[in-house]
Amino acid sequence: MAVKSYLKYKIMNCDNIRAKFTELYGEAGSVYTSPGRINIIGEHTDYNGGFVLPGAVDKCITAEIKFNGTDKVRAFSIDLNESSEFGLNEEDAPKEGWAKYIFGVCRELVKKGANIKGFDTTFAGDVPLGAGMSSSAALESTYAFALNDMLSLGFGLMELAKVGQATEHNYVGVKCGIMDQFASCHGKAGHLMRLDCKTGEFVYVPFDPEKHGYKVVLVNTCVKHELVDSPYNKRRESCERAVKAIQVKHPEVEFLRDAKMEWLEEVIGCITQEDYIRAEYAIGEVKRLLDACEALEKNDYETVGAKMYGTHIGMSVLYDVSCEELDFVNEVAKKCGVTGSRVMGGGFGGCTINIVAADKYDNFIKVVQEEYKNKYSIDCEIIPVVISDGARKIC
Ligand code: GLA
Repeated sequence: MAVKSYLKYKIMNCDNIRAKFTELYGEAGSVYTSPGRINIIGEHTDYNGGFVLPGAVDKCITAEIKFNGTDKVRAFSIDLNESSEFGLNEEDAPKEGWAKYIFGVCRELVKKGANIKGFDTTFAGDVPLGAGMSSSAALESTYAFALNDMLSLGFGLMELAKVGQATEHNYVGVKCGIMDQFASCHGKAGHLMRLDCKTGEFVYVPFDPEKHGYKVVLVNTCVKHELVDSPYNKRRESCERAVKAIQVKHPEVEFLRDAKMEWLEEVIGCITQEDYIRAEYAIGEVKRLLDACEALEKNDYETVGAKMYGTHIGMSVLYDVSCEELDFVNEVAKKCGVTGSRVMGGGFGGCTINIVAADKYDNFIKVVQEEYKNKYSIDCEIIPVVISDGARKIC
C-alpha cells in the first residue's frame, strides 16, 4: 500500500519538477523529497518538553537541485508558479514568503559552519497547505537534507530537524517545537515515532491499525490555519509563564512536562486564569499521551481513541486552538461511532485525525462529507493516511 502510493506520487510530481527544472536551468540536478506528518496524540507538548507520537505520511515536498557556480539561489515554486532569486547573506532575504523557508535553511546551515554555494531549484508538493500536516517542515527538511547530502556536511537527522526548527524561529516567526521537522526527517514506513522532546530520545513504534480492524483518516475542514503571528506563540508564552511561577517552589521544573497538576494548583493565584488553563491542558496532555502509548502497545485502540477525544476537548476548551468547523467535524465523528477523533497539529483550522473501526468507515466518510457541506457550503477533504518514510534522495 505504502509503496504503491509512493510510486503514484513519484510519477505525479517528479516529471513536472524535472521538466520545469530543465526548461529553466538546463541540465538536470538531483531530486530530494521530505514528507508531512500526522500525530496520533501529544499536541503542543513538544515545546513543553513532553512526548509526541507522529508518523511521516505519503504526502511530500519534492525538489530538484543543482549547484549553479554562483553565490545566488534561483528558486521556482511550481505550485505557485512564482520564482525568487536571493543571495546567501543575512541581508539577502527574499521577499516571497515561501522562499524564506529555503533561505532560512541555508542561513541556519551557514551558522553551523557550512559553506553553502548558490544553486538552482524547482519544487512542488502535495502536502495540503495550512492543514496542520506540516507542509513547511517538509519544505525545510527537503532542503536541509539535500544540502547536507550534496555538500557532504555530515549533520545527523536530528541536527537537520533543528535547522528546520531554527528556520521557523528566526526566519518565519513561529516559535514551534521540534515535532514536525523531527517527523519529516526521521519517518519510517509502517511506524510511528515516540519522541521525548526533552531528551531527544525516540523509539519507532510499529503501527498497523488495519491489522486490528481500524483505519486512520484525516478530515480537512479546509479552514486554513496560519501559525505566523498567530496565537501559537502566545500559547507557548503562557506555558513558559506557568513554568516560571511553579519554579519558585519547585526549581527543578524546566518544562511543564516536569510539573505535577498539584504544583500548578499551588500557583493558581499567581498567574492569570488564561495561563492557568493553558498549562492545565499541557500537563494533562503529557499524561494522556503516555496512557495512549501504553494502550497502543496492547493494541487497545478503543482506549487510544478515548484519549484522542480527551485531547480534542482539551484543545478546544482549555487551550482554545480549535475552531467551529473542527468542533463540528469532531461531533459528527462521535455521532458516527468513530473510535477516536481530534484536531491535529497546531490547530486554528486544518484537519481532524480519526481512528475508525473498518465497519464504520464508509458511513462516517459519507455522513461527514454530507453534513459538512450542508452546514458550511464547502467540501471537506478526506485524506487517508499512509505512514511512509522520511527525508530521502529520489534520484
Ligand atoms: C505545530 C508546531 C509543532 C507542534 C504542533 C502542536 O505543528 O510546528 O512544533 O507544537 O503545532 O503539537
